[in-house]
Amino acid sequence: MERTFIMIKPDGVQRGLIGDIISRFETKGFNLVGMKFMAVPRELAEKHYGVHKERPFFGGLVDFITSSPVVAMVWEGEGVVGSARTLIGATNPISSPPGTIRGDYGVTIGRNIIHGSDAIETAQTEIALWFSEGELASWESCAQGWIYE
Ligand code: RTP
Ligand code: MG
Repeated sequence: MERTFIMIKPDGVQRGLIGDIISRFETKGFNLVGMKFMAVPRELAEKHYGVHKERPFFGGLVDFITSSPVVAMVWEGEGVVGSARTLIGATNPISSPPGTIRGDYGVTIGRNIIHGSDAIETAQTEIALWFSEGELASWESCAQGWIYE
């Protein structure tokens, strides 16, 4: 089953949005398979956003991600990588529609509440970066038969 890496960023935690965000993934029908509340070491933040290391916003982005705790999660389900990106919305919250997490809660690109992996391969790399195998729990929800045909 497909998995994705989701992180509630420091602004989402500070603004009291943890419960609402988790609820959106739960009620959609996805399964939580890993979760931790943590301060992010600088080295981990730099690796996670390594693809952007030459961009002018990289230093500020790493400062932001390490500035206050985050909630790191792994969610599982059919098409979860793309669906999570849809639930999250556009990178810039001001152009993200209402109903999306960033559209409902954000205003600026540097404070966009949440991260989601952008492709299946990226998700696999990010999950391995943030979680050990023992921190992930495979399980089947009792609602499975009511979510999938
Ligand atoms: P994320 O990786 O955090 O889920 O966001 P994303 O895929 O929607 O966007 P991405 O292009 O990967 O950018 C990563 C994060 O860098 C910040 N950013 N700032 N100032 C800027 O022009 C700029 N561009 C990107 C955003 O916080 C974005 O989420
Ligand atoms: Mg990205």
